[in-house]
Amino acid sequence: MLDRRSFLETSALLSALGFLPRALSAEEYERDVARRDVPAGPFRGRPCVVSSANGIAGVKLAYDRITAGTDTLDAIIAGVNLVELDPNDQSVGLGGLPNEEGVVQLDASCMHGPTRRAGAVGCLEEIATPSLVAKAVMDYTTHVLLVGAGAKKFAQALGFKTQTLLTEKSRQDWLRWKSRLNKGDNWLDHDDDVKINWTHGTINMNAVNAAGDVSSVTTTSGLAWKLDGRLGDSPIHGAGQYTDNAIGAAGSTGLGEMNIKACGGFLTVEFMRNGATPEQAALKTLERMVHMTEARMLDEKGRPRYDIQVYAVAKDGRYGSATMYEGASFAVCDEKGARLEKCAFLFKGAERPR
Ligand code: GLY
Repeated sequence: MLDRRSFLETSALLSALGFLPRALSAEEYERDVARRDVPAGPFRGRPCVVSSANGIAGVKLAYDRITAGTDTLDAIIAGVNLVELDPNDQSVGLGGLPNEEGVVQLDASCMHGPTRRAGAVGCLEEIATPSLVAKAVMDYTTHVLLVGAGAKKFAQALGFKTQTLLTEKSRQDWLRWKSRLNKGDNWLDHDDDVKINWTHGTINMNAVNAAGDVSSVTTTSGLAWKLDGRLGDSPIHGAGQYTDNAIGAAGSTGLGEMNIKACGGFLTVEFMRNGATPEQAALKTLERMVHMTEARMLDEKGRPRYDIQVYAVAKDGRYGSATMYEGASFAVCDEKGARLEKCAFLFKGAERPR
């Protein structure tokens, strides 16, 4: 048996002699991937930030920081912090709708393209900015994902302050939902009489700078009234968001369970790698989600009984977004300024199952 030190020394010797594959440097990796996979075309180096519509202020903040020289991941995390700390957005951070027990549990993940690093937290309680804790997991540990009590302990050790995340508005919404429960209720059913805008929400933000460096982040309070311990797609790399610095970044908002099965973030980047535009890639990912959807979540015509939006940015600054049902918008900021644009869609809005 080799001890760890002897193993490392032996591996280094074998590698130097050419018997083991040598890890590529970041530059070699990007050159290699670019040679094999990136569709031919001039590199334009065009900064761009794209997000879900609730990130309209955040994309502007992130874009301004990126063009002033801030790292892409730091910039978009500052962008999503605006929403995490906004008590009126009941789908993210402070004021997020709670789980079925009235506890706000937050999920977030991020990826930093240039260094190929990733971090995430799930079911994090009492800390309003899970995106920053996800980045801390990336920066200060060798791990990629921390959950529950361990994630909170880690955040507190780094000095994150705990606070009550359940606002009075969200508590009232939760009580109204709870008051409708009775013995006959099925956990899979939602009560249509409780009119709440945010039963799932989330913010995903993706960015590229002039050097072609790419990052992504997604943060959420998850599905309202979820079971204690439920994780959605947001803390899952490859689902809620994904970055490959050679290609671009993508992420999503909407019913996370459907996205997890399609690995939506990863798949969108892979479609772009194979030549699709960001919008085409987002649409193809939605098609795959429908393909992967179980029967109970489809209507009689095979249309989904849920909605999801996908957002994508390519390394050259092209961007796009798509949604299942016509009507949704997304936020973008580039040299033309911050604005909302309509998402491409798979189904006409009138076709949405009621
Ligand atoms: N996409 C957010 C969630 O399902 O939790």
